[in-house]
Formats: sequence, structure tokens, C-alpha cells
Amino acid sequence: MTKLSDYVMEFVAASLHRQVRGQRAIPPSKDTPSAVFRESVSLSNMCPPTAMRPIRPYQIFTLLDDPPNARFATVKIPQRQDLKLLETFLLIAACRITMARRVFEFGTFLGSTTLNLAMALPADGRVYTFDLDVSSAAGVQQHPADARLTSQHLGTSSLDFVGTVAEKKITTLTGNSLFADFSEYQSSIDLIFIDGGHDFATITADTENAFRMVRPGGCIAWHDFGNPTYPDVAVYLNELSLRRKLVFVEDTMLCFYFEGRDIH
Ligand SMILES: C[S@@+](CC[C@H](N)C(=O)[O-])C[C@H]1O[C@@H](n2cnc3c(N)ncnc32)[C@H](O)[C@@H]1O
Repeated sequence: MTKLSDYVMEFVAASLHRQVRGQRAIPPSKDTPSAVFRESVSLSNMCPPTAMRPIRPYQIFTLLDDPPNARFATVKIPQRQDLKLLETFLLIAACRITMARRVFEFGTFLGSTTLNLAMALPADGRVYTFDLDVSSAAGVQQHPADARLTSQHLGTSSLDFVGTVAEKKITTLTGNSLFADFSEYQSSIDLIFIDGGHDFATITADTENAFRMVRPGGCIAWHDFGNPTYPDVAVYLNELSLRRKLVFVEDTMLCFYFEGRDIH
């Protein structure tokens, strides 16, 4: 069985359990570890000690009120360096949970997640995606791993969404997010995905901007929590979780903040 089908089985089992019992699903027993749990053990070993509440992936999916026959997703399959498929599905679920029309992504890279987010939005939806251009990248202070991604971003001949049906829903924005002015997006964005610079200064600036940009009832998601390449992300988010209700989703490197919502 593939890992993805493990996740699907976990979700289906959780949904059935909820339907049968008329209540929220419980996680599968850890006494019979699946590949999912084995993977989560190795990932949680990578994660730093955290005050943040861990949740299982199904706890996001069960926030969806759509009937099962309406839970379709069309995705560009991620490649190396992009999000994992499960992370993509979780972001798409967050779009649906917030009924997103306006999404903002910090860090376009090759545009794969931008495309997947745009395809998840209604026809009048819009994804703003922000990355460095050649002039703002000159002299930027970056983590060395981020510098390699920026080179790939600037060197690509075409972003993944170019020429697709979703392209018309996407606005590309450029600059150094550390210094950019995002005031025109104040309280107006349904879902913000923070996946730009992973150094402490940039993740701090992007997060502070995101809390100003998110609309009431919206969602902020962060990538690379627990990624050993980027320890600043976990340090920053762990500290933030003492003041804000963040959760991290096991088996992934995603953290979520759903404004005004508790996850059970
Ligand atoms: C991890 S990649 C983004 C991956 C993308 N979100 C995806 O899911 O495919 C990080 C991107 O952030 C960009 N970036 C890094 N520092 C930045 C900054 N200060 N301002 C804007 N973009 C930045 C990099 O150029 C790179 O393309």
C-alpha cells in the first residue's frame, strides 16, 4: 500500500467512525503502527520540543463540511523541493474550509503550489504570489539553502502555472518581503501561505505581515516547521505558539493558525 493510500484510509476510517458514532473521529490506534505512523516517528524525531499542539492530518480534513462526493481535488503532482502531496491536500482543504477567494503565498519558487492553490479557488478567486526578482535578490541576506532556491526561481524559463487555465487567477509580485509594504492587503486575505525566506528576520516579518493581512475567520499556514535545514522556523513558531493558537500537523512540516476556530 502506498503512503498516500494510508492517509486516505486514515481519513476514510476517521470519517466512517464519525458517521457511525455521530461525533468527531478519533485517530487510528498507535498499537498497530502503519507506514504513516512509522514515518511520523522519524519526522517527530526531527521536530524540536514544542509547546504547540500536534494534530493528525484528518483533523484538518474533518473541518470540511462538503459531502464526500464533493471532495474532489485536481493537483499538479509535486516534485522534489515542492510540498509533499499530503501538504498540498491540507492547503487545498484550508482553502475550502475558509471558502477562500483571496490567497497570498510568500515564496513562489517554481510556482507549483501557486498553481495548486489557484486551481482550488472559484473562478473569481485570486492567488498573489511573492518572490524575489533579480534586483531585490542582489545583496539579500539569505540562508544558503534559500539562496539556492532563489537561483532556481530566477533561472527558470517558465513558472509551472504559465499556460494553464489557472494562470488568469494568479498575480505575481516581486521584492524582498523583509522590506515590502503589504498594507493594501490589510484584513482581506482568506489564506496566507508562508514559505519564503527561512531565516529568523524574514519569517518574523512575513508572519507579522500575515497577521495584519488575514481576514477574520481566515487561515495562516507555515511550511518547514521541523525541517532540520531551517532551525529558525521552529524556534520562531514555537515561541509564537505561546501567544497564538498554532497547531502542527504530524507527518508534515505544516503549521496552521485558523482565526477564531478550535481544532478538535
Ligand atoms: C521554499 S521556496 C517556496 C516554495 C513554494 N512555496 C512551493 O511550495 O513550491 C522559497 C522561495 O522564497 C523566496 N524567498 C526567499 N527569501 C525571500 C524574501 N526575502 N522575499 C521574497 N521571497 C523570498 C525564494 O526565492 C524561494 O523561491
